[in-house]
Amino acid sequence: MDTSVSPNVDPLIDTLGRGLRNLRLSVTDRCNLRCRYCMPHEDYTWLPREELLTFEEIVKLAGVFTDLGVTRVRLTGGEPLLRRDLPVLVKMLAANSRVEDLALTTNGVLLADQAEALFEAGLGRLTISLDTLNPERFYTLVRRELHGHVLDGFSTARRAGFRGTKIDAVILRGFNDDELADLIEFGRKHSAEVRFIEYMDVGGATDWTPAQVVSRDEMLAALSKRYGNIAPLREDSTAPAERYQLSDGTIFGIIASTTAPFCRKCDRSRLTADGLWYMCLYAKHGTDLRRLLRGGASREAIAAEISRAWSARTDRGAEERVAQPQRGVFVPVDTLKQDPHLEMHTRGG
Ligand code: GTP
Ligand code: 5AD
Ligand code: SF4
Repeated sequence: MDTSVSPNVDPLIDTLGRGLRNLRLSVTDRCNLRCRYCMPHEDYTWLPREELLTFEEIVKLAGVFTDLGVTRVRLTGGEPLLRRDLPVLVKMLAANSRVEDLALTTNGVLLADQAEALFEAGLGRLTISLDTLNPERFYTLVRRELHGHVLDGFSTARRAGFRGTKIDAVILRGFNDDELADLIEFGRKHSAEVRFIEYMDVGGATDWTPAQVVSRDEMLAALSKRYGNIAPLREDSTAPAERYQLSDGTIFGIIASTTAPFCRKCDRSRLTADGLWYMCLYAKHGTDLRRLLRGGASREAIAAEISRAWSARTDRGAEERVAQPQRGVFVPVDTLKQDPHLEMHTRGG
């Protein structure tokens, strides 16, 4: 790989003026938890193993994206730490000088085992999902007795050298909406910034109902009761989280994708573990980059396909969901079984 090239490339721009800066790479559709908001069933239609991209293929495609202006890469799943030899892939991606930010979103279960190897391989940042501090609740939510492993992951990651860790907590009414302050305190103790996420009606969230969504406004109201003044940070960012500061300086975020989506600024796209490229979390169709790659297409041809698709992009999936008069489950279970690419866990949470 040529590491001498300038990392400054103007991003591709879509029809709404949004640049392509952010690539989420799902490295497996498998997961070792069964979170109610993402994978509420025990069995799924899994991607055929022979169709999964090899590390070389992932790195090659990532290189095409970074040549087109992507600077931020995030590894996701399913649960990315289930992909064998993940640190090897991290090292390969970290060697790409155009990648300014290399991050990983994990449920934390296997983190205590892998944090050191990932840090040494060049992973820059971690986001760990943690929705509850209560082990019994955790079991009800994910149906696995692994809460202790996740908590161990936090301390091991810090010892391994990770800084700037974030915590993702999906807030469900009547389940963990009484834990907002406890999660903030936990984050403070572990030097991690908490982001509260509104429950989204993404593909796979087959238990979704509007009544279970706790809105950003409700979360802010509950937190101001406990902490007093909460100051919004004025930031010009394309990140999904809006950030706020408590009077003692603690910062937390809220991702209001359900009631106040950030589609207008969305600079992200997603590659599934089998090489389908989606320009929106809610997109029904993706571009089959694996077929191009395995069919012998040149880098230039793949880049041309990506440029063509991004330039024509109009997606505003979450905003369109807000506009639905009767909002219910986005994709029915039967359709998900026929096309697992519609699952959030396949296209990267
Ligand atoms: P940084 O801002 O770089 O830290 O990363 P991030 O917030 O994009 O990463 P993370 O994987 O932690 O995403 C947090 C959550 O935001 C996801 O789990 C989703 O619930 C939501 N989210 C992420 N990407 C998208 C997206 O493309 N569209 C929408 N609507 N929501 C998203
Ligand atoms: N609503 C909101 N966030 C979700 N995630 C998965 N499913 C949903 C959903 N229905 C996100 C969470 C989780 C990550 C893996 O994906 O942030 O922590
Ligand atoms: Fe971007 Fe689609 Fe998510 Fe909107 S719903 S923020 S366009 S990925």
